[in-house]
Amino acid sequence: MLVLGIESSCDETGVALVETQGSAVPRLLSHALHSQIAMHQAYGGVVPELASRDHIRRVLPLTQSVLGESGRDLDEVDVVAYTRGPGLAGALLVGAGVACALGVALGKPVLGVHHLEGHLLSPFLSADPPEFPFVALLVSGGHTQLMAVEAVGRYEILGETIDDAAGEAFDKSAKLLGLPYPGGPWLAKLAEQGDSQAFKLPRPLLHSGDLDFSFAGLKTAVLTQARRLGDDLESRKSDLAASTQAAIVEVLLKKSLAALDRTGLGRLVVAGGVGANRSLREQLNAACARRNVRVHYPELALCTDNGAMIAMAAAMRMQAGLEAASARYAFDVKPR
Ligand code: KG4
Ligand code: ZN
Repeated sequence: MLVLGIESSCDETGVALVETQGSAVPRLLSHALHSQIAMHQAYGGVVPELASRDHIRRVLPLTQSVLGESGRDLDEVDVVAYTRGPGLAGALLVGAGVACALGVALGKPVLGVHHLEGHLLSPFLSADPPEFPFVALLVSGGHTQLMAVEAVGRYEILGETIDDAAGEAFDKSAKLLGLPYPGGPWLAKLAEQGDSQAFKLPRPLLHSGDLDFSFAGLKTAVLTQARRLGDDLESRKSDLAASTQAAIVEVLLKKSLAALDRTGLGRLVVAGGVGANRSLREQLNAACARRNVRVHYPELALCTDNGAMIAMAAAMRMQAGLEAASARYAFDVKPR
């Protein structure tokens, strides 16, 4: 079965082709991505209308390039999958509309996929895929969740953020430091030259006893610190970046370990854009090695939004018998 996946929930247009063979882990044949980051950078964040228009421009050329690269024809595609949500409504509608148009033209079923399930299953695209069950730490620009994952489609939320997501904490703090959008990778880079102990920043909910997160207060603390520094901010920027990153990473680390303790599971999967963070990976790797817990990540290039994870999630849901592939083309999107 050949699954074409289309991702258009935010500021990346992603298209990919995944092939299933029996019950084996589906194989990625090719994927293509266009990032709109450069276009939105001038505005300091994603401009939804511009995002939708750019998805329209990119999605068919990307589809053609994916087909060309894999040597497959469009009419060999068995299922067309798209990101149904969450995301920007107009952006989601582009992927949904194109997927359904392709489905109608081919007479093939169309499947709406949950964006977070895509992130969650993205480590299965790697050379060393995880085995079920596992604890998942899902850390993106819009979400921060810990989950117990029993099998495809069997997810229990153990804890989540009560306000900002971890990626938002990175991005908003970075903005306060005058870094470009999206700030996460920039802040991480600056942090490499800084002293993570230089500033005392809060670790919200670290000792709350549950597995929830809160990052809104951290952003305020960074703002207060930046204001206090005044003219000295420029020379202390890397120290403040390093201290901010250390606060976010410590909370993610401790809560992930607590989730492993609580569930008794011996495997951790980290997914979503913040999963690309080097400091987070180093600390999780070290702590998990001490506990004999295996950690799985998506490949770096597939941590942030992409079409491969959408095709993969659709393929795995079909394999698990969770989707009755029907050729109905009344599509919808779920921005929230
Ligand atoms: O998963 P993703 O591409 O989009 C959402 O579904 O939200 O995640 C994007 C988020 C942004 O907040 C971005 O700043 C953050 O992931 N991010 C990072 C790094 N790379 C991306 N945060 C910290 N360190 C990184 N290296
Ligand atoms: Zn995402």
